[in-house]
Amino acid sequence: MTRTMACSKFQPLLLLALLFCPLNLMAETTAKEQRHIYVKQSPCRPPLFVFGASLLDVGENAAAMPGRSVSEFPPYGVHYFGRTAARFSNGRLLIDFITQGLGYGFVDPFLKSLGSNFKHGVNFASSGATARNSTISGNGTSSLGLFSLNVQIDQFIEFKRSALGFKDPGYEEKILTEEDVLEGVYLMEFGHNDYINYAFRDPNYSADIFAYETISYFKKALLRLYNEGARKVVVMNLMPLGCAPGVLGYIKPPKELQDEYGCLISYNNMVNLHNNHLSNLLKELRLELPRAEWVLFDWHSVIENAIRHPTRYGVRYPLKTCCGEVGEYNFEWTSQCGSLNATVCEDPTRHIFWDGLHFVDSFNNILGNKFLQGKNLIPKFLIKESCKISK
Ligand SMILES: *[C@@H]1O[C@H](CO)[C@@H](O)[C@H](O)[C@H]1NC(C)=O
Ligand SMILES: *[C@@H]1O[C@H](CO)[C@@H](O)[C@H](O)[C@H]1NC(C)=O
Ligand SMILES: *[C@@H]1O[C@H](CO)[C@@H](O)[C@H](O)[C@H]1NC(C)=O
Ligand SMILES: *[C@@H]1O[C@H](CO)[C@@H](O)[C@H](O)[C@H]1NC(C)=O
Repeated sequence: MTRTMACSKFQPLLLLALLFCPLNLMAETTAKEQRHIYVKQSPCRPPLFVFGASLLDVGENAAAMPGRSVSEFPPYGVHYFGRTAARFSNGRLLIDFITQGLGYGFVDPFLKSLGSNFKHGVNFASSGATARNSTISGNGTSSLGLFSLNVQIDQFIEFKRSALGFKDPGYEEKILTEEDVLEGVYLMEFGHNDYINYAFRDPNYSADIFAYETISYFKKALLRLYNEGARKVVVMNLMPLGCAPGVLGYIKPPKELQDEYGCLISYNNMVNLHNNHLSNLLKELRLELPRAEWVLFDWHSVIENAIRHPTRYGVRYPLKTCCGEVGEYNFEWTSQCGSLNATVCEDPTRHIFWDGLHFVDSFNNILGNKFLQGKNLIPKFLIKESCKISK
C-alpha cells in the first residue's frame, strides 16, 4: 500500500509543536523540514477494504467457482470492458468508479490468484452473500451466496495477519502496514440478499424481528472490524428493493400495492425499517466507540430520487431493465439477462437497472461520484481528505 499514508500522524505533531515550542526553537525548523512534513501529509490515499455481495463483487465468486454465474458471460461487462468482467453490470460497479476516481485503477478480489495487486486494498464482496451465516451456495451448480459477512471478516483478518510484514518478492515495500489498517476505509453493503432470499419468501415473516436480526449481524461484523483496527467505516443502506425490476417482474404487483412511482410498497416499507435500524446502529457506535468514524452512505436516497425524477439523471426507463426480456419491467425469471432469449437495449444510459437488481455502468458512475464528492455520506466524509481527520 502507499508509503504516503502517514498523513494523520504528522498533523497532530505539528500542532503540538506550534503550541509548546518556544518561538526561537520554532525558527530553527528549517524550510527543508517543513517541506518534508508537507509532502508527507499529501496526498491522502487510504486503502479500501470492501465487504458485500453482487453489487460490489468484482470477481470474487468467479475466482472461487468459475463459470457458474451469469455475470461471467456476455452481455455482462461488454459495454465498458468489451468482454465479461465477472461483474453484475454492463460495465463497472460503484466500487470501480470509487477506486478509479482515487487513481487506484481496479482493486482486486481477495481470491484472485494470478497478478493480484493489493496495493490499494482488497475486495472481499461475494455475489449472493448474506449478513446471516447461512448461504444458498448449494452443491456446486451455482456460485451464488459463497461467503457470508462473517466469513468475509474472517478472510480480512487472515489477509491482515499474513500481509503485515510480508514483502512482495523483489520489492522493499510491505504490502500492508499497521498504518494502512488504521487509515484504511472499510466499505460494507449487506442485507438485500437476506431480505430477498429469506424474509420475502416467508409469507409469515415478522419485519421487526427480521430487521433486528439482520442488524445484529451487522453490529457483530462492525465490532470485529473495529477490534482489528478499522477506524473509518462506511456502511451502505439498502436500496429501494420494492423498485427493483427483478422484484416487480417476479411479483407483478397490482396497482393498489404500488406507490405512485410504480414501486412495491410493502418491500420498500421493509427497506425503510432496516435503514432506520442501521442508521440507529451507527449513531450508537458513534457514541460507544468515538475513536472510529461510523459513516452511513445513503445511496438509497440517490436511487430513490433517480426513480422518482428520472429525467434529472438522463434516464427514460427507471423501472425497466436494459438487458432482459418481455413486459413492463423487461424482466422475466425464465429469460433473465444472460439467458438465450434476453436482449440488450439500445442505450443503457437511459436506464438505471442493467438486470433485475444491478445497475448500468452510467448509473454506477453517478453513485460513485456522489461517494467521492462526499454527498449522501452521514456524517460528512470526504475520502480524499479522510487521512487528515482520522484519529
Ligand atoms: C455465525 O457463525 C459464527 C462463526 O462460525 C459463529 O460464531 C456465530 O455464533 C454464528 N451466528 C449465529 C447466529 O449462528
Ligand atoms: C444442486 O442444486 C441445484 C439448485 O439448488 C438443484 O437444481 C440441482 O438439482 C442440485 N443438483 C444435485 C446433483 O443435487
Ligand atoms: C403462516 O401462518 C399460517 C397461520 O398461522 C400457517 O397456517 C402457515 O402454515 C404459515 N406458513 C408458513 C410458510 O410458515
Ligand atoms: C425463448 O423463447 C422461445 C420462443 O418464444 C420459447 O419457446 C422458449 O421457452 C424461451 N426460452 C426461455 C429460456 O425462456
